[in-house]
Amino acid sequence: MADITRRSLFGGALATGVVAMSGATTASAADDPPRPPGQTTMIDVPFPAHNTVRIGLIGLGNRGGAMASGWASVPGAVVTAVCDIRTSRAQSTADRLVAQGHPRPAVIGGSVDSYRQLLARTDVDLVYIATPWEFHYAQGRDAMLAGKHASVELPIATELSELWSLVDTSERTRKHLMLAENCCYGNNELAMLRMSHEKVFGEVTNGHGGYLHDLRALLFSDTYYTDSWRRLWHTRSKASFYHMHGLAPVAAAMDINRGDRFTTVSATATPARGLADYRERFVPRTHPSWNETYVNGDLVTCHIRTSKGYDIRTAHDVSTPRPYSRINSIAGTRGIFEDYAGTASGARVYFEPGHTDHSWRDFGTFREQYKHWLWRKFPNGVGGHGGMDGIMQWRTVQLMRSGLVPDIDVYDSAAWCAPIPLSVLSLDAGGAAVAVPDFTRGDWSRPRPGLDSPETDMPGGGGTSPLANLAAAFDNVGTTHENNTTPGDFDGDGNSFSADKLTAAGLAPGATVTALGASITWPTGVGVRNNARGAGQVIRLSGRGSRVVVLGSGIGTLPGGDLVVRYTDGTTARGTIAFPNWTQPAAGGATAVATVVGRNRQSGYGDTAYRYTVFAHSAAIDPAKTVDTVTLPANADMHFFGLGLAP
Ligand SMILES: NC(=O)c1ccc[n+]([C@@H]2O[C@H](COP(=O)([O-])OP(=O)(O)OC[C@H]3O[C@@H](n4cnc5c(N)ncnc54)[C@H](O)[C@@H]3O)[C@@H](O)[C@H]2O)c1
Repeated sequence: MADITRRSLFGGALATGVVAMSGATTASAADDPPRPPGQTTMIDVPFPAHNTVRIGLIGLGNRGGAMASGWASVPGAVVTAVCDIRTSRAQSTADRLVAQGHPRPAVIGGSVDSYRQLLARTDVDLVYIATPWEFHYAQGRDAMLAGKHASVELPIATELSELWSLVDTSERTRKHLMLAENCCYGNNELAMLRMSHEKVFGEVTNGHGGYLHDLRALLFSDTYYTDSWRRLWHTRSKASFYHMHGLAPVAAAMDINRGDRFTTVSATATPARGLADYRERFVPRTHPSWNETYVNGDLVTCHIRTSKGYDIRTAHDVSTPRPYSRINSIAGTRGIFEDYAGTASGARVYFEPGHTDHSWRDFGTFREQYKHWLWRKFPNGVGGHGGMDGIMQWRTVQLMRSGLVPDIDVYDSAAWCAPIPLSVLSLDAGGAAVAVPDFTRGDWSRPRPGLDSPETDMPGGGGTSPLANLAAAFDNVGTTHENNTTPGDFDGDGNSFSADKLTAAGLAPGATVTALGASITWPTGVGVRNNARGAGQVIRLSGRGSRVVVLGSGIGTLPGGDLVVRYTDGTTARGTIAFPNWTQPAAGGATAVATVVGRNRQSGYGDTAYRYTVFAHSAAIDPAKTVDTVTLPANADMHFFGLGLAP
């Protein structure tokens, strides 16, 4: 593709003319370009651990705008810069983040190349790209060249040469580039993955996925897709543009690049009728779309073969009336999973030995049984698209903060997007099978975890979950002695509780405190880390009781969040808790445990006109079940000094 500087200033309105979408057809893996000297694989390469993940956002339309607060809300993440060719969108995103209580990011925009200013910043670790498709390749590549990791909306690129370039750039720069494939983090998709790996369906030999979404009204809207960029793609390419939402979860369940690989793609396409038919009926003759000719087939289907002889079909149709579906289906020697089946859970299954009556079963109970740990941690999901958007964002930040290997790497991203250019080659060749490059250059056959990851936690206690006790999560100095106040920083401004005053009020170091019926040990340390800021830490807490009780206090205005209790039988309970600001009286269901006059400032004890309070709050639990872990709310304004069970 042409370099980004040669594009229209209007962000997505490419000059007319058919985009070649070609690239060298590879007849076999032997024809793949050899790895340039000095490069090594990015497979199994962990992120360097980041204390904080500083994120820059490029493209703030429907998608980027909606994802901004999700990124800013992940514990340990901060959005430091926002960029859109239309500066007003960057400005309004920044204003919205500030209104939500996040720090103000730098606002960048004004030209098609403004994104380079964002990439040049030293306060950006991860770049999230949500611009129209034609910009993804150059912006993703340039992000890595600028030393940033990149999370790129679908697709990462549309031509084979570009996909190879991204693989090579990642290997050369040692930066990760990941397709922001939120659907891989769906509840049904991840449970399907777990069941496939547990061999519930026997040997999984075939799968089916795709993107079937009636976008006609949005494609012809003058306000939805900026400069109608998405409709214009239908005037210049025959490709299967956007099958990845359905292909990626199926490919993950079938261990593509983790034991198997795509070998060939053959494509078919029905005639391009749907958009013209819609325009005929609903779009005024004066509309600019009447100058357009649509060439993208209504239904583009790809048959993908794998090295094990397995078969995956993808479907892409955004031009005809139909209810939404990503299909999501896998089948094997012992059974089958099908999503979008109209059942209560959305999906249905049938597998041996239990099912022999030729009748489908609702997926619901099996989804509970095989639930991925991310959905056990966030039972209602987080954010948009049924909760998978925020889970992807949380996980991306967690991987970077923890220094883990990404779930989705540049090789997965390239393989999942490869049918875009390959479908064109195949259609041009009358549907012939065309070879899929091996972007891993021979490293695909080794099993490795990917999305089916072991459970780990967001750093906060610094370790993996569950932490042995609350003390293992302590990351803040909340109390100091009046004769040595400087280590304190309860509120982020260098102020702390006076341990001497708290002792007089019953909270002596190491004392047993009775609060809401629970006996809880007050931290022994003074002037050292003695409380944990809420960051979704999973804490071991064994025993039974009727309530989980927490001791703590807040900064900000009545910070709250959900406390999630996990029982030894794998079920969970949750309760919403809140701590008032430490200067405020009890509110939000919290109970005052100790109130003291004044606080320790960096300059010494003072502020005696004010009173500062430690609170208790609790969440009801099932006394018949044994508690295994407690997950703290992901709200860093909540400070936790103690945790216990009330009988
Ligand atoms: N994963 C998902 O579920 C999901 C959902 C929706 C959209 N998307 C993807 O998100 C991307 C954006 O889609 P959208 O619906 O938000 O489109 P949109 O037209 O609403 O937004 C695109 C934004 O990019 C800006 N832009 C264009 N060129 C730019 C440049 N060079 N530099 C900076 N900004 C530029 C535009 O001004 C606009 O604000 C697409 O790739 C789309 O496929 C993904």
